[in-house]
Amino acid sequence: MSETSLFGLAGKKTMIVGGGQGMGESTARFLARAGADVAVIDVVPERAERVAAIVNGIGPRGIPIVGDVLDDSQIPTIVAAAEAQLDGIDAMVSIVGAAAFGPLLDTDAALFDQQIHLNLRYFFLTASEVARRMIKGGQPGAIVGIASVDGQRSAPMRGVYGAAKAGLISLVQTMAVEWAPHHIRVNAIAPGHITTPRLFDTPSRVDAYARSLLPAGRRGTTDDIGKAALFLVSDLSAYVSGTTLDVDGGLLAQNLFPHGLPGSNQG
Ligand SMILES: NC(=O)c1ccc[n+]([C@@H]2O[C@H](COP(=O)([O-])OP(=O)(O)OC[C@H]3O[C@@H](n4cnc5c(N)ncnc54)[C@H](O)[C@@H]3O)[C@@H](O)[C@H]2O)c1
Repeated sequence: MSETSLFGLAGKKTMIVGGGQGMGESTARFLARAGADVAVIDVVPERAERVAAIVNGIGPRGIPIVGDVLDDSQIPTIVAAAEAQLDGIDAMVSIVGAAAFGPLLDTDAALFDQQIHLNLRYFFLTASEVARRMIKGGQPGAIVGIASVDGQRSAPMRGVYGAAKAGLISLVQTMAVEWAPHHIRVNAIAPGHITTPRLFDTPSRVDAYARSLLPAGRRGTTDDIGKAALFLVSDLSAYVSGTTLDVDGGLLAQNLFPHGLPGSNQG
């Protein structure tokens, strides 16, 4: 057995929502290297086209699809276009999302709705549309959403983002259970601090602070996320569903009192 065939992705049809840069680009590269065709969906045409060309350069088919998943009415059209151009959908990785920063007491209803839409609602609609088509085609499949460590713990200054990502983690569990009879696996990735195109301009003092908090001693890379996505859509995770994989360099595993409680000889 070749190393690539371990993934079981050769000739498989995959789509990445928000595939046009950063984590999406890394995921596209890894899926293509495992032999999968990739539909790269992005709201920015040049981004979709650039990453689709990278996939074509690796070997499998890269298909750019331009669309806005924050427009509910476009979601069925986007998924239908991916299905038609790929000739089926075996896997979907959904990347789109972003945090708004500010305390809860400065968060109005409009910002609350914007964060839930951007980080939860579109994922619900898109994953459901993909699952319906997988079920109709009698195809097994894999779906991956991007959550965040902010959905696993409190998220001061980005509380609604954290709540939306916690919602995504919950949805993934319910989707995994409800869609298991159709052989559709659904999982999430919870990235920690990842250097992405949007975060390249992080001031170095913030970066040094973040690094000092990370057991791994470094921020994550988009490839760290792409590798996790490859695992979760591949045969290597055939018995993994409903889980959230923390890709955080050990951030959430830390113990605030690693040497016992201060002033106590008890653990
Ligand atoms: N960077 C981190 O440290 C970190 C940590 C935890 C979680 N995350 C999560 O990782 C994911 C990716 O974050 P990122 O900063 O790499 O994203 P990004 O903004 O760099 O990339 C997202 C891609 O999606 C596209 N996109 C945006 N809106 C779209 C829309 N409406 N329709 C279609 N495409 C659209 C963008 O053009 C872009 O190419 C997000 O869900 C984010 O919440 C990031």
